[in-house]
This record gives sequence, structure tokens and C-alpha cells, in this order.
Amino acid sequence: MDSIDAMPAEEFESDVVQEVELESDAMQEEELELEIESLKKRVAIVIGSTRPGRISGGIAEWVLNTVQTGSPLRYELVDLAEVNLPFLDEPAPAAQSQYEHEHTRVWSRLISSYDGFIFVFPQYNWGYPGVLKNALDFLYWEWRDKPVSFVTFGTRGGSRAAAQIQGVLQGLHMRELADHLEVRIAEDDVDEQWQLKDIQAILSPYWAQTRSIDEEMVAAVTTPGTEVIDPEL
Ligand SMILES: Cc1cc2nc3c(=O)[nH]c(=O)nc-3n(C[C@H](O)[C@H](O)[C@H](O)COP(=O)(O)O)c2cc1C
Repeated sequence: MDSIDAMPAEEFESDVVQEVELESDAMQEEELELEIESLKKRVAIVIGSTRPGRISGGIAEWVLNTVQTGSPLRYELVDLAEVNLPFLDEPAPAAQSQYEHEHTRVWSRLISSYDGFIFVFPQYNWGYPGVLKNALDFLYWEWRDKPVSFVTFGTRGGSRAAAQIQGVLQGLHMRELADHLEVRIAEDDVDEQWQLKDIQAILSPYWAQTRSIDEEMVAAVTTPGTEVIDPEL
């Protein structure tokens, strides 16, 4: 109080004005940041297995952190365990976009809101998880023509799961990026509960390739698809 009392009125006023100006600058900066954030293209990293004790979630988080570093895109996790779709229960094929169920409409709105996708999933019996195929089959136009990459994992990297999903992505007319990851998980990498012992150490060899996926995604989401859409699919 003493110091304020002692301060000449003009000096006190100019301090207050300066403070208010700084506050309003900070608010404007925050608003601008929010606006920039809302203009960013969005890419979903889809966690493609739902088994209790799954390791796909940790791998997807590592992928998210790695692609997000310095990227102009906004990457977000989409967890199929949370989406919790039933087995496909729509009477009409997805290409007709006549959805009877609210869960399909919610899924459709979510997928429509993304500009690109990275699917993260394990190899199961030389294929990829049924839960992911089911989630893909629910929709059609929402996937079509959008850029896509994926990360498989397994004891040999999951190349058979990769080959299977590539055919399906082609069927959905998605634009597959040049790079995808096939992460090899050795017996020494996991503990007795089949949890990854050191996720950073296991995934660090894939860092450069994961950064390439971001670069390819940036180029792809800013280039509209060129294909002519055939109404017969
Ligand atoms: C049903 C099932 C089938 C599996 N088949 C394979 C396989 O074909 N090749 C492979 O390398 N690992 C296979 N595994 C081992 C998985 O790679 C490992 O369990 C991995 O943690 C599964 O991913 P998740 O934890 O996200 O479910 C299989 C696992 C399960 C549960």
C-alpha cells in the first residue's frame, strides 16, 4: 500500500494500462492459437485391437508422440475399445449411407471429421483384428479417398496382416502412403504378461520411418484426391 500511495497517480495509471494491455495481448494470442489449432488438418491414430491387456495402446501413443513432434497436423487417438461398435448391424451396405443406428451415425460423424488415418494393430493368426475390419465395414464414403498409413506389429512384424489390410484399403479407395511400419516384437522385448518392457527402446529403430509417415501425411492431406468417383464403386 505504501508504495502505491507513494507512487504518482500518472505512473500508477500507466502501470495499470500496461498490465491491461499485456493481458489483452495474451488473450488475443491465446485466441489466435485456438483459431490456428482449429484450422489444422486432423489425423486419427486408430487403436485397432481391443483385447484386455493389449499392447496396441502403448504403441499407438508412441506413434502419436512421434508423428506429432513438429508436425503442422493435429493427430488424435481413436480407440476402438471406446467406440465399442457392435458387429455390423446395418441392413444397407455402407456405400448407400442409409444408417439405421445411432452408433453408426456417431461413428460416421467421427470418421468424417478426420482428414487422414494411421491404423495401429497386431497380427492375429496371419490376419488383422476382426474388430478393425468390422469398424471399417460400417462406413464407406467416410474413408474413401483419404490418406492412410498403418503400423502392424508381431513377432515377425505382422507382414501378413499388412498385406491383408492393404487389399481392404484399396477396396475402400483410400490413398495409402508410401511408408508403413512393421514392428518386430522379440520374446526378450516382453515380460511374462506379454507387456512391452521398454517401449522407447523397442520402437526407437522406427523413429525415422515414423517421421516420414508424418511428412507424407502432410503432403497427402493438403493434396485433394484426384480420382473420379465411380457411382458403381
Ligand atoms: C488371437 C491372437 C493371434 C495371434 N497371432 C499372431 C500371429 O499370427 N503372428 C504374430 O506375430 N503374433 C501373433 N499373436 C501375438 C500378438 O502379436 C501379441 O499377442 C500382441 O500383443 C497382440 O496385440 P494386442 O496386445 O494389441 O492384442 C497373436 C495373438 C493373439 C491374441
